[in-house]
Amino acid sequence: MTALRDIRRQFLDFFGKEGHEIVQSAPLVPQDDPTLLFVNAGMVPFKNVFTGAERRDYSRATSSQKCVRAGGKHNDLDNVGYTARHHTFFEMLGNFSFGDYFKEQAIEFAWTMVTREFALPKDKLLVTVYSEDEEAAALWRKIAGLPDEKIIRISTSDNFWSMGDTGPCGPCSEIFFDHGPGIWGGPPGTPEEDGDRFIEIWNLVFMQYEQQPGGERINLPKPSIDTGMGLERIAAVLQGVHNNYDVDLFKTLISASEEALKVKAEGDALASHRVIADHLRSTSFLIADGVTPSNEGRGYVLRRIMRRAMRHAHLLGANEPVLFGLAKTLSDEMGEAFPELPRALPAIEETLRGEEERFQRTLGRGLTLLEEATADLKEGDALPGETAFKLYDTYGFPLDLTEDALRTRGLSVDQAGFDAAMERQRSDARASWSGSGQAAPEALWFAVRDRLGATEFTGYQSHDGQSKLTAIVADGAEQSDLKEGAGAELIFKATPFYAEGGGQIGDAGVINFDTGAVFTVTDVQKRAGEIYAHIGVLERGAIKLDNSAALKVDAERRTKVRSNHSATHLLHAALRDVLGPHVTQKGSYVGPDRLRFDFSHAKALSEDETQAIEAQVNAVIRQNADAKIAEMTPDKAIEAGALALFGEKYGDTVRVLAMGDSLNDDDKAYSVELCGGIHVDRTGDIALFKIVGESSVSSGVRRLEALTGEAARQWLETEANKAKTAALSLKVPTHELVDRVAALQAERKTLERQLAEAKKQLAMGGGGGAAAQAGPEEVGGVKLIARVVEGVGGKDLRGLVDEARKQMGSGVAAFVGVNEGKAALAVGLTDDLVGAMSAVDLVRAAVGAVGGKGGGGRPDFAQAGGPDGSKAEDALAAIRTALAG
Ligand code: ALA
Repeated sequence: MTALRDIRRQFLDFFGKEGHEIVQSAPLVPQDDPTLLFVNAGMVPFKNVFTGAERRDYSRATSSQKCVRAGGKHNDLDNVGYTARHHTFFEMLGNFSFGDYFKEQAIEFAWTMVTREFALPKDKLLVTVYSEDEEAAALWRKIAGLPDEKIIRISTSDNFWSMGDTGPCGPCSEIFFDHGPGIWGGPPGTPEEDGDRFIEIWNLVFMQYEQQPGGERINLPKPSIDTGMGLERIAAVLQGVHNNYDVDLFKTLISASEEALKVKAEGDALASHRVIADHLRSTSFLIADGVTPSNEGRGYVLRRIMRRAMRHAHLLGANEPVLFGLAKTLSDEMGEAFPELPRALPAIEETLRGEEERFQRTLGRGLTLLEEATADLKEGDALPGETAFKLYDTYGFPLDLTEDALRTRGLSVDQAGFDAAMERQRSDARASWSGSGQAAPEALWFAVRDRLGATEFTGYQSHDGQSKLTAIVADGAEQSDLKEGAGAELIFKATPFYAEGGGQIGDAGVINFDTGAVFTVTDVQKRAGEIYAHIGVLERGAIKLDNSAALKVDAERRTKVRSNHSATHLLHAALRDVLGPHVTQKGSYVGPDRLRFDFSHAKALSEDETQAIEAQVNAVIRQNADAKIAEMTPDKAIEAGALALFGEKYGDTVRVLAMGDSLNDDDKAYSVELCGGIHVDRTGDIALFKIVGESSVSSGVRRLEALTGEAARQWLETEANKAKTAALSLKVPTHELVDRVAALQAERKTLERQLAEAKKQLAMGGGGGAAAQAGPEEVGGVKLIARVVEGVGGKDLRGLVDEARKQMGSGVAAFVGVNEGKAALAVGLTDDLVGAMSAVDLVRAAVGAVGGKGGGGRPDFAQAGGPDGSKAEDALAAIRTALAG
């Protein structure tokens, strides 16, 4: 059996030998392409090469590209687990020609690969061509010698491939493998084509056009080739199995899943194990490429996939997080071909575990609600949209998860009702939102970008620059001019202003137009990925397009931001050193006033840890080492010790910042990170670093807030002043403050003890007070000690009662404690009297006098209370009366 990894190698080697550049898979998040959610085909990273917008130094390439098809044009999420060949994540093997060879050579390569390299029997193969593509049909006849009935003409979009709503496209020709008459199904184009007998294994696209926004189709500069072969599919064919989930890689993943869940992959459990294995792959690869679960965009697709996997784990009986434990197996299996996987493994595990813990809290309750809501439904019925929305909104159930949960019972969801509930919530939210009404729609920004191209950023080294105004956006639309006093977003050809990114906030400053007009910039944001919008107000004069201006960044503010940004990197390195390598960055804010850093860590930092971190960062600051910025390949960056390479375009260069010397006596830099932000020249520029806040953001994520430079100095000064003031009021020098406070605390404890003792003495008639002379009285033939004690609360009375009983040997003790105007009563009898009378009866007889009711306890000791302490003596009188009676 040829293992999946060997099939990948064989394919790449074959095309490599045929003059193709072997290109490493690009990240799943498309670079510079906001129109596409995820890379969903092998050609996506080459899109601009096909259209001629980008040039490479090769014209033939081959790759095994990571693809995700979940959300967007190609979405397979709902089918996964239930069919033999759907995946949310898969690899696409492909060979590409950028204006080099075309149809004939492509068909020849494909035929050689399939029949000679993979040695598939020719009589099991057939092909389809686009109905108008006679040329392709003739070539298949000539090259493969296929008879006419095995060259099937298809007129539908099945044989015209396009990447998305826009982008390169063209007619295509597909190769099918016939699994034989033992399996139901017919050739493509027949009514039985959906059966499983004839399986498409390779798609050859003859790229000729580019689909434009708005429907127009233009010719590519040169006819090109794009092919795609699903690695898992061809592996199934070559390993003689019919189901992709039976290939070697999936068998390994599924047995890991069986072991973790202690449920065999058979019967009903089979689909769940397959879902888990598939979703584990897409989830792990997405996280490795920098996607984190969230409630919108790519992050939401990731969350949906994760939660669907979690529900299936729950179906198999999991009540604890399990999926995170499977990531290691995946990394072991695929890490050689995709080194980003082992590199990101700690982050994958953390993210999975965090999401599993979060969802576990609501999953069970949500499923119970779903059970109840569907108890009376029968096959074919639909769950009301309101309920599906509640599951979504309150329990975090993505709609497709609810649908998936209902599917086996033949139930569906009232989608229209769900949409209506969602819309209602949105409009409620809109109604309560008071925006400026100025935000421009995304489409506008993409149009601006397409017209103007990326803004050139000149601000790494300088604060000033001269440039031309190329766009004005105000009131949600493009304008040709702007009047004094108006708010707007201005675009220039080039700018020294940094746009918010990588946690660093946008620059502020001023723009002086040559005409004398002045625009104040309060923030800068990137729009459509690469244009810099200067947000602010036209303070003076009027401006129009093409005006020239001097752009001036607020340098003082920028200097503070730079210090805080560099300190953030040092903090990250210190955290990993002190707390461990599980620490990964979860978010950051770098402003002029302070910095904030969120990271994965399970518990609050101890004082020792905080101090160790501060000490390290300050030690590196004192090294006053150069902050070294270099452009390098991702491989070099990793070698240099860069922490994360999430979602970088492999093969391209990345900007790497290295700071300080390792504190561990090795030759490494202290901190190495990829960063597009602005930093200090030397670590000494940061001057001082102080952590001023530590808190929890969510489970497993902590937040540190810190200050640098002058802000840190001022903070320390304020703290020192507080100590000085305290020392002054205690009349000691500051260095004795701590001892003095400790002494005062000890003294206070002693005094409290003495005070309690004195009160007791006083109550018992000791201490020389007037009450001391008054011994027990005799009432109704028994001894009685009856006293009112000031400043004593109910819980201290028992001690007094006990002491009085001891003193008398035989008798009744009755105390009324008066504290803050209220009265507390306690009555006790010596054991010999129990039976003859009851302490409970006695307090009950007395409590009315102080305005209280009830009272309770045991026959030998009872307590009660009342609001009127001024009548305490009356309560004792009532007890005397009761005893006398
Ligand atoms: N781009 C083509 C596909 O995805 C090869 O099928």
